[in-house]
Amino acid sequence: MSQRKAYRSAILHSIADPRDVGIEASYAYFEDGLLVVEDGKVLDVGHADTLLGKFSDADLTTYSDTLITAGFIDTHIHYPQLDIIGAYGEQLLEWLETYTFPAERKFEDPEHATRLAQVFLEELLRNGTTTALVFGTVHKQSIDAFFSEAQKLDLRMIAGKVMMDRNAPEYLRDTPESAYADSKELIERWHGKGRLHYAVTPRFAPTSTPEQLALAGQLFQEYPGLYMHTHISENKQEIEWVRGLFPERSGYLDVYDHHGLIGERAVFAHGVHLCDDECQRLGETGSAVAFCPTSNLFLGSGLLNLDKLEECGVRVGLGTDVGAGTSFSQLQSLNEAYKVMQLQGKKLDPFRALYLATLGGARSLYLDDRIGNLQPGKDADFVVLDYNATPLISRRMAQATTLAERLFALMILGDDRAVKETYAAGVCRHRK
Ligand code: GUN
Ligand code: ZN
Repeated sequence: MSQRKAYRSAILHSIADPRDVGIEASYAYFEDGLLVVEDGKVLDVGHADTLLGKFSDADLTTYSDTLITAGFIDTHIHYPQLDIIGAYGEQLLEWLETYTFPAERKFEDPEHATRLAQVFLEELLRNGTTTALVFGTVHKQSIDAFFSEAQKLDLRMIAGKVMMDRNAPEYLRDTPESAYADSKELIERWHGKGRLHYAVTPRFAPTSTPEQLALAGQLFQEYPGLYMHTHISENKQEIEWVRGLFPERSGYLDVYDHHGLIGERAVFAHGVHLCDDECQRLGETGSAVAFCPTSNLFLGSGLLNLDKLEECGVRVGLGTDVGAGTSFSQLQSLNEAYKVMQLQGKKLDPFRALYLATLGGARSLYLDDRIGNLQPGKDADFVVLDYNATPLISRRMAQATTLAERLFALMILGDDRAVKETYAAGVCRHRK
């Protein structure tokens, strides 16, 4: 028989898009809250005084000076780039040649892939991230290793083998046919198994021939619930390159659109330099953009226009983009996101930030019926954040008088040190 568990703490979660309902109606907060979990799902959430009697049989854990919220969702990250995080000096295209491709070559070895998948998942959990949309390498064994390790931890993860048949070193190239066949084999083996989902993953337009993109588009339509995961309009040189490679297409997004790589469950990383028409098209097709602030600043790519995307109805999630991104922590992504907005004369309200890191990510992935907040019936994926994580955070919290201030201080000053515990499907997978 499964044990019913209850967690008493301050509890905050996003319940709607602040753009639709306003900031105040976008979240629920219980100063003295209770989260009740059974069979890996949320059974109830609310005020402790009303729920404690009803669930007096539950095994109770009581915290102090903590905030429980939904597990963070990372809508764009590369597990094979773990060991090149913080590599000096280059912008996108040189960075790929100098650091990324040699690091990805090592995933030909399944033992290396398994080791890195273990460390990677541990690092996600240390940072409170319970779901991620993940790039592998061109090798199908990279994804077998990743999904095997994610399955052991019963995590909700989405990943795919990179498709790349040109403009990359010979040792990292597949062909249109082998990419299609290998991806299909992985889909049959993993897609829909437990909490795992597959993403068709052409790296970006420059590294795929039109033939490969066409087969990727075909595959994306072949199975229900598949994802499409790629990069777009991150860097100005990259955009010029795409223009030269696909002169017959009207723009970068049109390359993907033409090949059937757009729509619900299509997630495009970056989109820093998208034009108005492209934002419109992403919105009307139900596609999503992963906002990757630490990466966009680190590689000098540019400042995302979040407001424009949201005004066009584009679903936006938050991505770390490790290894171009510089932290696994979505609190740190929000810290940098705030500065990206500041540099454009705009603000990022802390509750809108929370939405981006949780429910907004879930909506981008069409998983908001299962994750993204703590409503009854959802997966019990949650984090316990520590208001006393460091002496400085503790001092800052003592000065804060409102929930908004405390949340903002956590996202500006917090990182993995602020994550006291991480639960996935009701099981504690990280404890500091
Ligand atoms: N564009 C194509 N490949 C990559 C990658 O690995 N990282 C980033 N940030 N952008 C890319
Ligand atoms: Zn990326």
